[in-house]
Amino acid sequence: MTRKPAFPHLLAPGTIGPVTVPNRVVLPAMDMNLCADGEIEQEDIEHFVARAAGGTGLIITGCCAVAYPVGCASTKEPGLSEDRFIPGLRALADAVHAAGSKLCVQMTHHGKIARIDTVEGRPLLVPSAPSGSADLSALADNTSDEMRKMAAVTGGKQATYREATQDDIDWVVRCFASAARRVRAAGGDAVEIHCAHGYILGGFLSRADNKRTDGYGGALANRARLAVEVKKAVSIPVITVGRVLPEVGEKAIAEGRADFAAMGRQLLADPELVNKLAAGTPENVRPCINCYVCVQENFWDDTPICAVNPALGNEKLLPLSPVSTPKHVVIVGAGPGGLEVARLAAERRHRITLLDKTDRLGGTLWFASLTTPDNQRLLNWLKVQVERLDIDIRLNTEATAASIAALNPDVVVVATGAVRGRPGVPGGDLPHVHTGDTLRALMTGSGDVSQVPPLLRTIAKLGKLSGITRSPAAIRTVTRRFLPMGKNVVVIGGSLVGLELSEFLAERGRNVTLLEEGQQLGVPMAMPRRWTAVRHASEHGVTIHRHATVQRITKQDVEFRVADKTMTAPANMVVVASKVSAQASLAEALEGAVPEVHVIGDAAEVDYIQGAIHSAWKVAAKL
Ligand SMILES: Cc1cc2nc3c(=O)[nH]c(=O)nc-3n(C[C@H](O)[C@H](O)[C@H](O)COP(=O)(O)O)c2cc1C
Ligand code: SF4
Repeated sequence: MTRKPAFPHLLAPGTIGPVTVPNRVVLPAMDMNLCADGEIEQEDIEHFVARAAGGTGLIITGCCAVAYPVGCASTKEPGLSEDRFIPGLRALADAVHAAGSKLCVQMTHHGKIARIDTVEGRPLLVPSAPSGSADLSALADNTSDEMRKMAAVTGGKQATYREATQDDIDWVVRCFASAARRVRAAGGDAVEIHCAHGYILGGFLSRADNKRTDGYGGALANRARLAVEVKKAVSIPVITVGRVLPEVGEKAIAEGRADFAAMGRQLLADPELVNKLAAGTPENVRPCINCYVCVQENFWDDTPICAVNPALGNEKLLPLSPVSTPKHVVIVGAGPGGLEVARLAAERRHRITLLDKTDRLGGTLWFASLTTPDNQRLLNWLKVQVERLDIDIRLNTEATAASIAALNPDVVVVATGAVRGRPGVPGGDLPHVHTGDTLRALMTGSGDVSQVPPLLRTIAKLGKLSGITRSPAAIRTVTRRFLPMGKNVVVIGGSLVGLELSEFLAERGRNVTLLEEGQQLGVPMAMPRRWTAVRHASEHGVTIHRHATVQRITKQDVEFRVADKTMTAPANMVVVASKVSAQASLAEALEGAVPEVHVIGDAAEVDYIQGAIHSAWKVAAKL
């Protein structure tokens, strides 16, 4: 029996002007920074072809520079300003067509963001000279390494600006027109004109950036004049973009609110999206977790990395080929790293035994799904994958070196996660001081609750009996009404976990104080997400102290120092999110007892979801 496609609107052909697109899924423009001096390289072609072969109807390239190298943000973006760029464009168009998709080229002049103009000593072309200075307060949460990498892109040079004259405007129009002719000559199907992000055309459109008093400034019709001077058509289909999941795109098209659905990061995470929808297996689409790791790389001119898809930018990694001599692989720990290595190794036809000491799959990812709902999509996907594959899953199974050796493995993968300690200050062992482990036990009803006070332990048990603690979504909802913890909470440690947890608790009416020993909050979250998380925490009323050193914890409060000032914060509960470290003592105990041992994920190096998935791929490729 064939499965009926659940996405009839999304998978139906559509037209944009004279171009017929095989379905309504669009890869929106995302720069990959894989070109050399404006010329399209093979890796760039492979990236787009993977998405075309995965069924995407229309492929839009990332920014291509209409006046290369003038007005461009990177010399790794494709150029459109000379005929020497046509062969590369043609190779891309041919390859995308051969894979069954249509190609649209995004044309750009980066205006005030044209970093290469600054590098090469040219002033940035803008509608009006900028007045005032930009708000850079979010950079307080950048590490010195990040600041150094961002500054390196412009060689540390300061930008200068030049207000566009009529000649400049005429030149911009000519550049866009000639670029479009080159795209057509190369066999491209369409062009997209970039009018956002503060680039030149977006700059003219913006009231904040455009203070002109001539025919290109003032009323909207004037500000839009430059953008419409290269455009004749007025009746155009609508492509919607921005966290459009397949079901959202399907609904928008069915209701006539959009004609096409662009899915950017989702197609970075899984290039096979459309083929999987068409096969009736949407549950197999690897979800994007909205972590912004990919976006971050653009800040320092690198190729995007995907936290959940290590093949992004390096499509040659795939496929991981099946083995002719399967091994028995025992995996200890069913967190994100353990589940991913189990999936990949099983797909390579190894025999897998997956052990976890708790009563559920997911490990830290399960807990991280409470504070960050997007993580739950990855958790669900990993569960579906390991459950559909022939994997021997053993929960509630504490592994020892002896019990593992008794399974006769050829390979053991230790994915037991990080260890979490207590602060070595007076009061650090009081019962209301929780580590990630005891807090997890309390919230999920899973794991060791012996350190949890009796009343809370009873509540945790009730939650478990009622089934609430089996679902992160249910816990998120229920804890908005009832959260078994006191009013005042101090979170020690403002990295990823501490920051997300503070926001979660503050959203649920807790008076939260966050103490961070260093300057930066939210590391190692990717920068754009970190900036948002810090802002959200403040908006939810979290009191933040940076450079804060905890002195002692009492039953009522936490005493800490900032510079030479001693302060206290009230605390009925203290959560320690700072003492997280990698440890794989099991791997040491297994040395010599089994033929091959690997350590992945936080047990090897604390690097959360990205580290878990990427290290899982490295090991799985070698098995
Ligand atoms: C790595 C990356 C690079 C991007 N580069 C561009 C670009 O070159 N031009 C552009 O207009 N938008 C760019 N975008 C924005 C996307 O086109 C899209 O609008 C955005 O990612 C939101 O859609 P999504 O939630 O489906 O990812 C980029 C986004 C990402 C993630
Ligand atoms: S890096 Fe994160 S946000 Fe970007 S595509 Fe991958 S999962 Fe999505």
